[in-house]
Amino acid sequence: MRIVVLVSGTGSNLQAVIDAVAKGSLPVEIAAVGADRPGTYGVQRSADAGLETFEVNFKDFSTRTDWDAALLRKVASYAPDYVVSSGFMRIVAPGFIDAFEGRYVNTHPALLPSFPGAHGVRDAMAYGVKVTGCTVHFADAGVDTGPIIAQTPVEVFPEDTEDSLHGRIKVAERELLIKVLADLAGRWDSVQA
Ligand code: GRF
Repeated sequence: MRIVVLVSGTGSNLQAVIDAVAKGSLPVEIAAVGADRPGTYGVQRSADAGLETFEVNFKDFSTRTDWDAALLRKVASYAPDYVVSSGFMRIVAPGFIDAFEGRYVNTHPALLPSFPGAHGVRDAMAYGVKVTGCTVHFADAGVDTGPIIAQTPVEVFPEDTEDSLHGRIKVAERELLIKVLADLAGRWDSVQA
C-alpha cells in the first residue's frame, strides 16, 4: 500500500509512521511526504530518512484554484493508494477529495465531531471537557468532517496546559494512525489479492 503524507509542521506523528515502517511493523510504502510551505521540520525529517519529499507552497500561487490543481497533480503523480493528512493545516479542494475519495485520511486532536478546526485542543480545554482525544477519519471537503475510522479518548487533567494535553493526545494519535494504516494495509492487500 503506497501512501503520500501531507504535513504543515513538525511531523512528529509522521516520524512515528516512518519508524514503524522502518521497523517492519507497518506494511506500507511512504511514496512521498509533501508540505504546503517551505522549511517544515516534517519535510526535513523525511528527507533525513531518505524519503522523497515535495513542497507545493501555497504562497507561490496567485489563486487558490492554481494551488489546488498543483497539489492534486503532485500528489497524484506518486499514484498513492491513500493520502494521509498528518498535521496538514489546509482544507483541500473538492476535486482533491473526488480524486482520492475514501482514500484521504486525516488525523485530528479531538473527538470529532466536537472541536473541529485548527485549535481542537485549546477549544476542548476552553469548553471544560474532562475527556477529549483524537480521531482518524476519512476527510471530505469540510473542516475535519467525514466518516470516522477510529478514536481514542484522552483524559484532561486539572493541571493540564494546552501543550501538555496536546502532547498526550499526540502519543495516542500516532498509535491510532499507525493502527488505522495497518488495518487499511490489510484491507488493501485483500482488495489486491
Ligand atoms: C496533530 O495533533 C494533528 O492532529 C494536528 O497537529 C498535530 C500535528 O503534529 N492537526 P505533528 O506535526 O505530527 O508533530
